[in-house]
Amino acid sequence: NKGNYEHYMQKEIHEQPESLTTTMRGRLIRGGTCKAKTVLLGGLKDHLKTIRRSRRIVFIGCGTSYNAALAARPILEELSGIPVTMEIASDLLDRQGPIYREDTAVFVSQSGETADTLHALEYALQNGALCVGITNTVGSVIARKTHCGVHINAGAEIGVASTKAYTSQIVVMAMLALAIGGDAISNQARREAIIDCLFDLPNKVREVLKLDQEMKDLAKLLIAEQSLLMFGRGYNYATALEGSLKVKEVALMHSEGILAGEMKHGPLALVDESLPIVVIATHDACFSKQQSVIQQLHARKGRLIVMCSRGDAAAVSLGGACSRVIEVPQVEDCLQPVVNIVPLQLLAYHLTVLRGYNVDQPRNLAKSVTTE
Ligand code: UD1
Ligand code: BG6
Repeated sequence: NKGNYEHYMQKEIHEQPESLTTTMRGRLIRGGTCKAKTVLLGGLKDHLKTIRRSRRIVFIGCGTSYNAALAARPILEELSGIPVTMEIASDLLDRQGPIYREDTAVFVSQSGETADTLHALEYALQNGALCVGITNTVGSVIARKTHCGVHINAGAEIGVASTKAYTSQIVVMAMLALAIGGDAISNQARREAIIDCLFDLPNKVREVLKLDQEMKDLAKLLIAEQSLLMFGRGYNYATALEGSLKVKEVALMHSEGILAGEMKHGPLALVDESLPIVVIATHDACFSKQQSVIQQLHARKGRLIVMCSRGDAAAVSLGGACSRVIEVPQVEDCLQPVVNIVPLQLLAYHLTVLRGYNVDQPRNLAKSVTTE
């Protein structure tokens, strides 16, 4: 049921304030006078000790689910102190990469049915790792075969391009980082700030959804382009990858997510006055580095579309050098990817409709890929 919306993807983008609320329901504890703010993930509470003792945490997934894990990686590293590595499921299998008994392997899958992820799970089980699922589908094969896990409870997702599952996956993995981090005094203030921010996150997503018309206008500007680059780094490298995946999947436009730190090692050669480039430069510890990236792209006459935190427009637009500035509300750095992806989802959606393609069932793609 699409309700008042024309497409499932549109509905699922706009229902993110609600899906995020459902994801967090019953799992955040505000804390009374003597109780600390904390998170409770029912499916993991008996396994946290084992996870904390693991030598490494390995995230495994495909497509959008992989990108969500990438977005959550920095906060998991920070709060757990455990090395976190990333594996695209098919690549882990191609290499038969090492997985050990001392590893915690986290399988991220909206459907819980993706063949590559499932086969990687079977491989990790054989190797004796603790296998944790982050899934949206209760009763799915990955949910059943993992030792434990967390349901993201985002509600059924119908559009082939994943939107609301992505933001709920990031929130669950941020909660996972909080749960593994436990109650160490050293990062108590940081943890409480993140929990406060989680409570308010649905409101921030509601705010950023108001950019709908602005993103439609931007889509009109980009409708006939051949290609669109997206530069991100730190917490928002994943935003660049996921934003470009959305554009590619549904708008059928070539798009590449680029790690801004790699700019000089190749991508800079592509920059000219015609190729549009989105730079994600919201306020965090990498901000000044991103400002310098903007300057260098501008020096090569790049056609820049910059996403920045509200109030930073002047600091990123180089006196009107950028063709567009997208201002978003600022949240805790580790949750900023949840806010930042929304305008890019809207952009991909409008680009697709304007270009006349099928939004909910893009050419050649399937919602759940059950063959390798
Ligand atoms: C559970 C109930 C929820 C209820 C809540 C009340 C289910 C599915 N969930 O939610 O309806 O409101 O208790 O406390 O009945 N699991 C995996 N792999 C996965 C995902 C989950 O093994 O990929 C396991 C978990 O370890 C857990 C179970 O499935 O044993 C349910 O997980 P989840 O729904 O996340 O647990 P709760 O949030 O506690
Ligand atoms: C397919 C979907 O490629 O599988 C993507 O079209 C999705 O949207 C990917 O991200 C992984 O799916 P899942 O269900 O394992 O998260």
